[in-house]
Amino acid sequence: MSLIQEADFGTPEIKPALGTTIASVTLKIDGFDVTVPEGTSIMRAAAQIGTKIPKLCATDTLNAFGSCRLCLVEIEGRAGTPASCTTLVAPGMSVITGNERLRKLRKGVMELYISDHPLDCLTCGANGDCELQDAAGEVGLRDVRYGYQGENHTHSAKDVSNPYFDYDPSKCIVCSRCVRACEETQGTFALTIDGRGFGSRVAAGQNEPFMSSECVSCGACVAACPTATLIEKKVVEIGTPEHSVVTTCAYCGVGCQFKAEMRGPELVRMVPYKDGKANRGHSCIKGRFAWGYATHRERKTVPMVRERITDPWRETTWEEALGRAASEIKRIQAKYGRSSVGGITSSRCTNEETYLVQKLVRAGFHNNNVDTCARVCHSPTGFGLSQTYGTSAGTQDFDSIEHCDVMLVIGANPTDGHPVFASRMKKRLRAGAKLIVIDPRRIDMVRSPHIEAAMHLPLQPGTNVAVVTALAHVIVAEGLVNTEFVRERCDAEEFAAWSDFVLEPQNSPESVEKLSGVPADLIRRAARLYATGGNAAIFYGLGVTEHSQGTTTVMAIANLAMATGNIGRPGVGVNPLRGQNNVQGSCDMGSFPHELPGYRHISDDATREIFGREWGVALDPEPGLRINNMLDAAVDGTFKALYVQGEDIAQSDPDSKHVIAGLEAMECVIVQDLFLNETANYAHIFLPGTSFLEKDGTFTNAERRINRVRKVIKPLPGLADWEVTLKLADALGVNIGTYAHPSEIMDEVARTTPSFAGVSYAALDAQGSIQWPCNEEAPEGTPVMHIDRFVRGEGRFMITEYIPTEERSGPRFPLLLTTGRILSQYNVGAQTRRTENSRWHEEDVLEIHPHDAEQRGIREGNWVRLASRAGETSLRVRLTDRVAPGVVYTTFHHPLTQANVITTDFSDWATNCPEYKVTAVQVSPSNGPSEWQEDYQRHSDLSRRIAAE
Ligand code: SF4
Ligand code: SF4
Ligand code: SF4
Ligand code: FES
Repeated sequence: MSLIQEADFGTPEIKPALGTTIASVTLKIDGFDVTVPEGTSIMRAAAQIGTKIPKLCATDTLNAFGSCRLCLVEIEGRAGTPASCTTLVAPGMSVITGNERLRKLRKGVMELYISDHPLDCLTCGANGDCELQDAAGEVGLRDVRYGYQGENHTHSAKDVSNPYFDYDPSKCIVCSRCVRACEETQGTFALTIDGRGFGSRVAAGQNEPFMSSECVSCGACVAACPTATLIEKKVVEIGTPEHSVVTTCAYCGVGCQFKAEMRGPELVRMVPYKDGKANRGHSCIKGRFAWGYATHRERKTVPMVRERITDPWRETTWEEALGRAASEIKRIQAKYGRSSVGGITSSRCTNEETYLVQKLVRAGFHNNNVDTCARVCHSPTGFGLSQTYGTSAGTQDFDSIEHCDVMLVIGANPTDGHPVFASRMKKRLRAGAKLIVIDPRRIDMVRSPHIEAAMHLPLQPGTNVAVVTALAHVIVAEGLVNTEFVRERCDAEEFAAWSDFVLEPQNSPESVEKLSGVPADLIRRAARLYATGGNAAIFYGLGVTEHSQGTTTVMAIANLAMATGNIGRPGVGVNPLRGQNNVQGSCDMGSFPHELPGYRHISDDATREIFGREWGVALDPEPGLRINNMLDAAVDGTFKALYVQGEDIAQSDPDSKHVIAGLEAMECVIVQDLFLNETANYAHIFLPGTSFLEKDGTFTNAERRINRVRKVIKPLPGLADWEVTLKLADALGVNIGTYAHPSEIMDEVARTTPSFAGVSYAALDAQGSIQWPCNEEAPEGTPVMHIDRFVRGEGRFMITEYIPTEERSGPRFPLLLTTGRILSQYNVGAQTRRTENSRWHEEDVLEIHPHDAEQRGIREGNWVRLASRAGETSLRVRLTDRVAPGVVYTTFHHPLTQANVITTDFSDWATNCPEYKVTAVQVSPSNGPSEWQEDYQRHSDLSRRIAAE
């Protein structure tokens, strides 16, 4: 293995706008002909023929700036020596990139830089990986005539406040790459060049330490810095990397690709991969820096067992742990029946691992009691989009954003949940696209540096269906329907019924204003902008799905896109921003109790026949139990054993007390995870899991993109998760296949699942990634779906009647709680809490409007009791007008907050996706953690004991 070095062409590639072409320009560079698109820089044109012009301030991820003057060239017939990074090609131009004069000039420039640079190359963290060092070599600098004694910056103090990278201004050459990366790539605008001339230096925020500034620690500036000024602490600690592999982030559904750069067996850093088609070389703090959990001291790498959940754990061998698991499953099935056991697949694990767990349940447990965490997040997306369009996934690729004119963001908080995609959205907004935000909370996208939403509709939690249907009302009433699209692509009768329905008076903006709190005029203006503003795309998240009418809102969104013809081309579409790294994949792989891989119903004889033949078993045609049904059945005494791979249902699922009651009622809970998570507190067998760094496989992101996950280090427990599932099947005496490598599991998926027919590891390696469907019709995959026709044939308009949730505020619980997550933490926090990311978010806090706080005598930072009809917890408050009066908000990253003790058992009518986003609550002053929290902490501490040898 060697270190992967991507080419740097110096300035960005020139691409034509959608539907246009760019003229080509032919010029001569050092006597060689080169043809490039008009608008290309001389530097890039030269790089295309392999001529490397020395540079410092230019890099092809950022617009040219022209400050370092190192890239000077001569152009025949022109006076002077222009910078090749900022000078564009012209037909017939003849360029000289190197001669005595240029060499002299470049040497002179380098001399000035080096005279103000510490000469500590041998002990510098970037030694061997420094563009300044390289450039000095390229221009042949051997001496500095000015000496090093004059005024300089070589003793400037370092800023080491950020836990992941240092800023050493003594090494800064003021090339502005960091400033531009923060602006252009990340869109945070945290950096400036402070001062003038010789005194100028890079400053974070208002000239403050990085940690106190607006910096969100995405690492873009560090990646862009050509010197050791901004450098990863790990590089300083371990040394410069020497080999690398490309893999995929295991946090969110954006699916960023990284070069995992190693030195010997140690991971040194994760560098965003420029060829990663989802992230295009960008990253967020989690993927870039928060991977230390993989070797955290609390990681468990040895199997453990115990008789009762009150006993301490006992470390044991794989044989004993798997043997115990198998004998318990067999015993329980013999005693309580075939359906008394089930499994939960993980949206954090690979496609291949997920596929095997559902296969084990269906072919080994001989029932369909398998479910996944998508149940609690995007199951309404799957159902809603399959009903309207015929497929359970988003319609676009992320590149599509570059052609979008209007973004409608509803129930999503991209800057925190999907940060790398948010940066791309912000870039497009800065280029002139318009933004409509529909959210109870004033999320960062509403206003942040250089972007401002055209409209923010701050609706009351629980009123999505009403508001989206009111948008449709305006579109139909004002004649803004794209009648041609509807006539050609959609079912006419259903459209007629739908338009009659949306015109009904209860769907008018005025009626909806009364229940949603959104002014009618704002609804009208939003509808007009969406329908008439050009290419309009809808982006939504869990603020849409996690409601009792989650599926209805998804359908309402799909209706809106069809009615305006915003589907089937770049720049438009319906884009669910999927939460977990592989939540799309876990659904694709057949993790739901009613569906086999590829979203084919278990009751369908032909589909069962395909899998029955491949797996050599007869499959049960009856859908199995969903997670919540398994827990209900456990409380009722009919469900007795659960195999949970990589999920923490005790923390992540709603109504924690009920989840815990279900787990406690089971006779055998098998948890496979990296850590003794909250669910493991109720487990009898613990199988150590592997992190994404330790295995091969694939993840599928929110744009249906299948990305490779490649092994970076050896599995710490000795076995990858997919191998453990196979061994569990062996111990049970069932054959779920023999695979030498996960690629063979993917081959089986391709054999059995038409939308994956063309997917293989060889194809993935060749193309980098593939968006399903990938088959004979689309051998290279499908970036944009429903281009000429919907997958189901005609698009289907659905009636979306608004039925208010039964969870309403009232005298006892007068406020509405909604939940979400924050940039630095990830979901239940099992990984991010075990990294320095906790420095940004040490505890969950409750956001409350100052008016509501004052009424209750609550001040900033006070402990409060947060109570609902399901339970109560305590946490600290933050006073903010980001939430409207009557609404409170918290995150759920820390187990001791137990935010899900508060959430209720209400759920989506179609999919049982829990209603996390609306809980009626009361907030009152408190002195500290509640009794439940203290009990819980005691129980957790007891449960995590490990017996001495
Ligand atoms: S880490 Fe990201 S947000 Fe922070 S200064 Fe650098 S580019 Fe800006
Ligand atoms: S910190 Fe690095 S990227 Fe920023 S101006 Fe200094 S040398 Fe250039
Ligand atoms: S945006 Fe998501 S996939 Fe990308 S680095 Fe961040 S957490 Fe990972
Ligand atoms: S690389 Fe062209 S001026 Fe710096």
